[in-house]
Amino acid sequence: MPFQINSFEQYLSEYQKSIDQPENFWSGIAEHFTWKKKWDKVLEWNFKEPSVKWFQGGKLNITENCLDRHLMEKANDPAIIWEPNDPKEKNRILSYKELHGEVCRFVQVLKNNSVKKGDRICIYMPMVPELAVAVLACARMGAIHSVIFGGYSAQSIADRIEDASCSLVLTADGGNRGGKDILLKDTIDEALQKTGHVKKVIVLKRLGNKVNMVDGRDVWWHDEIKKVESQGLKDTTAEAMDAEDILFILYTSGSTGKPKGVVHTVAGYMIYTTYSFVNVFQYKPGQIYFCTADIGWITGHSYTVYGPLCAGATTLMFEGIPSWPDPGRFWDIVDKYKVNILYTAPTAIRSLMGFGTDPIKNKDLSSLRVLGTVGEPINEEAWHWYDEHIGKHKCPIVDTWWQTETGGIMISNLAGISKGKPSYATLPLPGVIPLLVDENGHPVPGSDAAKDGVFHKGASGPTVSGNLCIRFPWPSIIRTTYGDHERCRVNYFATYPGMYFTGDGALRDAEGNYRITGRVDDVLNVSGHRIGTAEVENAINMHPEVVESAVVGYPHDIKGQGIYAFVTLGKEGQEKGVKKESVVSEVVRVIGVIARPDKIQFVTGLPKTRSGKIMRRILRKIAEGEMENLGDISTLVDPAVVEEIKKGKV
Ligand code: WT7
Repeated sequence: MPFQINSFEQYLSEYQKSIDQPENFWSGIAEHFTWKKKWDKVLEWNFKEPSVKWFQGGKLNITENCLDRHLMEKANDPAIIWEPNDPKEKNRILSYKELHGEVCRFVQVLKNNSVKKGDRICIYMPMVPELAVAVLACARMGAIHSVIFGGYSAQSIADRIEDASCSLVLTADGGNRGGKDILLKDTIDEALQKTGHVKKVIVLKRLGNKVNMVDGRDVWWHDEIKKVESQGLKDTTAEAMDAEDILFILYTSGSTGKPKGVVHTVAGYMIYTTYSFVNVFQYKPGQIYFCTADIGWITGHSYTVYGPLCAGATTLMFEGIPSWPDPGRFWDIVDKYKVNILYTAPTAIRSLMGFGTDPIKNKDLSSLRVLGTVGEPINEEAWHWYDEHIGKHKCPIVDTWWQTETGGIMISNLAGISKGKPSYATLPLPGVIPLLVDENGHPVPGSDAAKDGVFHKGASGPTVSGNLCIRFPWPSIIRTTYGDHERCRVNYFATYPGMYFTGDGALRDAEGNYRITGRVDDVLNVSGHRIGTAEVENAINMHPEVVESAVVGYPHDIKGQGIYAFVTLGKEGQEKGVKKESVVSEVVRVIGVIARPDKIQFVTGLPKTRSGKIMRRILRKIAEGEMENLGDISTLVDPAVVEEIKKGKV
């Protein structure tokens, strides 16, 4: 594959080139893509506004890179292998040619439904091939997709539709997840009662359950395809997009109550996801690559759809969950398709570990070459289990650190090229300059990959720690938060001027390996999904009997972090008694199942300072089971509440 790094020496030299001459470095990579018109300027940037522009003047379409350019040599190669939730249902395999055809047809469906370039399209669909088709069709005609994970509630969908003023929704009657049916269309109907933007809903038939079709608003996917078939395919040329046109919006949680619409643009995102895919996983033509992430998350965008398809890979898309119908599901899939590369999350590994090695027995995993993890720090126990029982000590494990905002993998070993180290994401990819800063914003000596050297073989010395920042733009850096550029500036570029702040803490060992220690802001990482504590508090506070709440994380064996909510009730609520389950339901109603609190504790008051600030530090310690050493509590208005909270711990 072009631009694939083949040795550690080459990694070091490419890294050096990427920091000495970033523009030459990235334009050299960009040459390997299909452009309708070459760029005039490689990079223009400042982190003050912030403003980052890659490949200005260039015109292209990402789907020409994902599809059309493979039609000469790979037309009949599998692009997407789809494995359904229920192993008894038939799988589907779409060749590049077939996928190209489906995407072109769906572009015409969108156009028939008055979608124009630049329109925002909300996608709320199950993990079926049509979801990938929908995403690619938007990209092909220049509509901006906003995919929402199937676990979000009607309220969350409505908020996201409002924020981006989406004019059209793509959904399905329902979806399968393990033993459950998820009634997606019903949720969309409820969401659309809360917002007036949406003019059209296109509904895919997946479950065959009865759904309510609103006259003039809702149409069936298959009817629309039939229309296209009778019209005949008109123009199948992909729209010429500017390099910096928006490709998609993807919402993620921050430390405030309102989710942010992270914006990625066409050219930089395409180049970085493809480059990182090829290098981190060391993908070789013909290999079967299986990323278990749902397309509703950034991992699914970058490494189920765009990166692999741009690289001409075969990407396996799985509709189900790891534990259904039994906890051998992943291993059956690896065996069935002779998967070569498996990319999953630590939480999935930990939950499968719990079932022991029986589910692996009699499964042929010998096709595996590379294993990957993403989403949260992987604990050493899970790392070793993955290495021993799945990789049989023969597969490098890439621990890939990145974020929705970074678009692609930033810090990771490259499979078989650079060394892994359990619980370390290790070294930055070319083009990425991490450094750690202390709480005063001063760079920590020895922590800057470019200034202090990216790698020091065998070095012994202190491990340094700090807040993880990146001090130079890479092609897939977040461009803005949709509709609110100031929020983007304040969130990511204002804490440490001149740097992108990740929100994560990290260590760096003497060799130069980075180890991510977790969020340093009020954001939880539950099963690899980001959830803002403020968001959960807002939801809890909507419960009519609740006065106030404080949400913190605590260590959870499988999820990584669990959600612990301290809740105070009003007089009426205290008198009549409120069920914990009703508080949990409120969160599920407002945000969705993914934010379901694990523990609720009713308290008569929260520990507050005289200025009214909740001392979360204390609550965090109690939730973690740390009852002593709570630190100085003398500044609290009412130190007695601490005793009460300790006694009532759940
Ligand atoms: C946050 C980003 C990137 C796709 C999945 C999550 C944590 C992610 C790792 C890793 C330690 C990790 C960080 C980061 N995280 N990967 N390999 N080691 N922590 O995307 O929802 O945007 O969350 O996930 O805390 O900031 P996301």
